[in-house]
Amino acid sequence: MQKKIKVMMVFGTRPEAIKMAPLVLQMRKYPEHILPIVAVTAQHREMLDQVLELFKIHPDYDLDIMAQGQTLFDITGRAMKGLDTVLTKENPDLVLVHGDTTTTFAGALAAYYHQISVGHVEAGLRTHNKYSPYPEEMNRRLTGAIADLHFAPTETSKNNLLAESVGEEDIFVTGNTVIDALHHTVRDDFEFKDEFLKHIDFKKNRIILVTTHRRENLGEPMRHVYKALKTLVEEIPDAHVVFPVHKNPKVREVVKEELGGLDKVHLIDPLDYEPFANLINRACLVLTDSGGIQEEAPSLGKPVLVLRDTTERPEAVMAGTVKLIGTDRDRVYNEAKKLLTDKEEYKKMSEAYNPYGDGKAAKRIIDAILYRYKKLDTPPEAFKAAK
Ligand code: UD1
Ligand code: UDP
Repeated sequence: MQKKIKVMMVFGTRPEAIKMAPLVLQMRKYPEHILPIVAVTAQHREMLDQVLELFKIHPDYDLDIMAQGQTLFDITGRAMKGLDTVLTKENPDLVLVHGDTTTTFAGALAAYYHQISVGHVEAGLRTHNKYSPYPEEMNRRLTGAIADLHFAPTETSKNNLLAESVGEEDIFVTGNTVIDALHHTVRDDFEFKDEFLKHIDFKKNRIILVTTHRRENLGEPMRHVYKALKTLVEEIPDAHVVFPVHKNPKVREVVKEELGGLDKVHLIDPLDYEPFANLINRACLVLTDSGGIQEEAPSLGKPVLVLRDTTERPEAVMAGTVKLIGTDRDRVYNEAKKLLTDKEEYKKMSEAYNPYGDGKAAKRIIDAILYRYKKLDTPPEAFKAAK
């Protein structure tokens, strides 16, 4: 019998888990060719566990590294140490990492130290500014420098890799697995179980869905955004903010100070992915500094105001569904107000557009791996965004 490919998937935070879950599920369909192993660093704890539970993933290894107030050094050091042990024990043929977190970079570096091949899922996104987002831009670039296989979600990300002299034969344009995950989850007849969400009247009220967590926005920039939101809901009668607040205490503290106790601002804990994705689908407008939400909302036809100065995801900006607005208080207020009061503006930004995927990314990634390891004769066809 031919030897199976032992593939270890390493991830640690909420967005990595959401975007790796479709791969974990898909890989189980190839037991004759692939032996999948899941190793989580648990850089996030509760926010990771929410996703593992939803997709019924039981990791083979859980390094459980999260500590309150962890620094980049803590995460990198603990993840490297734990992964050294796991890689020594399993010696996989291929390690798959995802995206741009510190777990991603540590996973790639640990595999490289063991001289194990690395596949980078969601490869090639760039802002070309090493401090924005920080440290994600460098995490992604450094992972790219180590990777042997690059799964670029779009043609744009492939071109970024080609410009860095990555060999064309090592790049596969697959679409983003986040759209696979979204297909699993969003339904027009979805019923919220949560008491609060269940009772929102989406016909009478317009919901502004907000999330913030970027390191470079901690402190004053976030404060400016929150002040703008406060004015907005005071002025527009049917506008309500729903804000699932990230577990980071540095975010929670400022949110509470600026927005705590306001009638029309609903501060809630991070939502499970299923209700969250369905809430995007019912919201009127999204304000966020998240990467993943910038991909999800456009495909559900929801305008997104991105609370950042740069983005590594230019496709939806070009298409007009996403606007980069930064964190200046007046700008946030003006841009959001325009969308809530100008029907034409709103309509222009709410065309559903799907530059990031078609729900088949996980299959393409696995086919690319099978092709690379000579279990398939032809590579998968590249993902092409519908115009
Ligand atoms: C991390 C990633 C970021 C990604 C984000 C997704 C790095 C450096 N940052 O940022 O790229 O966009 O995840 O959300 O890799 N916490 C909990 N429980 C949890 C999760 C977090 O209590 O389930 C708290 C802890 O106190 C932790 C803090 O949040 O110290 C920050 O977590 P950390 O992973 O260091 O940074 P994020 O801002 O979440
Ligand atoms: N998300 C979630 N619950 C929430 C907020 C976000 O499940 O309360 C999901 C969201 O749908 C997206 C991902 O988490 O898929 C984005 O994670 P985050 O914004 O933390 O990280 P980023 O994408 O910026 O790295």
